Amino acid sequence: MANSNPHLNLPYRARRLRQSAALRDMVAETTLLPQHLIAPFFLLDGAHRRDAVASMPGVWQQTLDHVLIEIDQGLKLGIKAYMLFGVPEAKDAQGTNAHIQDGLIQHACAEIKKQFGQDVVLMADTCLCEYTSHGHCGLVMDGQVVNDPSVSVLAKIAVSQAEAGADVVCPSDMMDGRIAAIREALDEAGFENTVIMAYAAKYASAFYAPFRDAAASAPSFGDRRSYQMDPRNLKEALRETMQDIDEGADMIMVKPASAYGDVIKATVELVEVPVAAYHVSGEYSMVKAAAANGWIDERAVVLELMTGLRRAGATMVATYHAFDVARWLQSHD
Ligand code: PBG
Repeated sequence: MANSNPHLNLPYRARRLRQSAALRDMVAETTLLPQHLIAPFFLLDGAHRRDAVASMPGVWQQTLDHVLIEIDQGLKLGIKAYMLFGVPEAKDAQGTNAHIQDGLIQHACAEIKKQFGQDVVLMADTCLCEYTSHGHCGLVMDGQVVNDPSVSVLAKIAVSQAEAGADVVCPSDMMDGRIAAIREALDEAGFENTVIMAYAAKYASAFYAPFRDAAASAPSFGDRRSYQMDPRNLKEALRETMQDIDEGADMIMVKPASAYGDVIKATVELVEVPVAAYHVSGEYSMVKAAAANGWIDERAVVLELMTGLRRAGATMVATYHAFDVARWLQSHD
């Protein structure tokens, strides 16, 4: 087709490559596959319980028997990675239950590995907030979250999780120096193959609110701003990331996801290790609430969000939408 304007002889017609679904698929720059997804679970003590999390429709606090059934279904959908958060009944100031032998998560890791072995990538959240009576991610002394004593406990938690069979430990506490301490403790205990996924750029975010219901981990006083990052900062995220890599992190997590696409992109450009984005509870709940009102097309919106995170450069996306996404990817209509 000749151009009717002789002065505007545009050789490039962008719409040529958008003519059919087949053409669009052929030239697509971004993929989204079930193996890119990490599915989180909230684990309860005991058996045969499944309580809905009110602020996160479609998400449950559940006992191991239910989680085993879900993992079995997830594997059939192609989801490989599962991340466990414990919601134990007993909590104390030291978060002792986070690292006792045969604790909630330790028991679950052992059973999941017994049943699914190498088919799953088993990830354990390495933090104190779900286990401490005060709900902070570290130990509290004189009203302050103290760094170095917390790091020693986190290293103990990581070793107990590795002993139980976790493939990946995921320190989400944001204490300084914990990656080096965890690496050293793991190696000393003979777990030199246990992977560390460091929440390097974890922001003090209002998007975590529904998670704190789900994990019963809201801080009883103060907030997390003395250890999580200030949302105004990007360079700080890159410093944290370099620090965690230097200390031995195998993978980096950026969290939350949607409002932090620039952080994901800059992190991916900076480091040579895989970067995960955590699409957090508040991001999930907003989509669910809008969808329940009929204001958005849930499937289209979620796939667009996930694709956006992959386009920003995330290798993996941790999301409560994981099972739905995997199902939608299977159904191709
Ligand atoms: C803390 C932790 C949090 C999340 C994951 N790990 C909450 C927090 O920092 O308060 C939030 C995840 C989400 O919102 O989905 N160990």
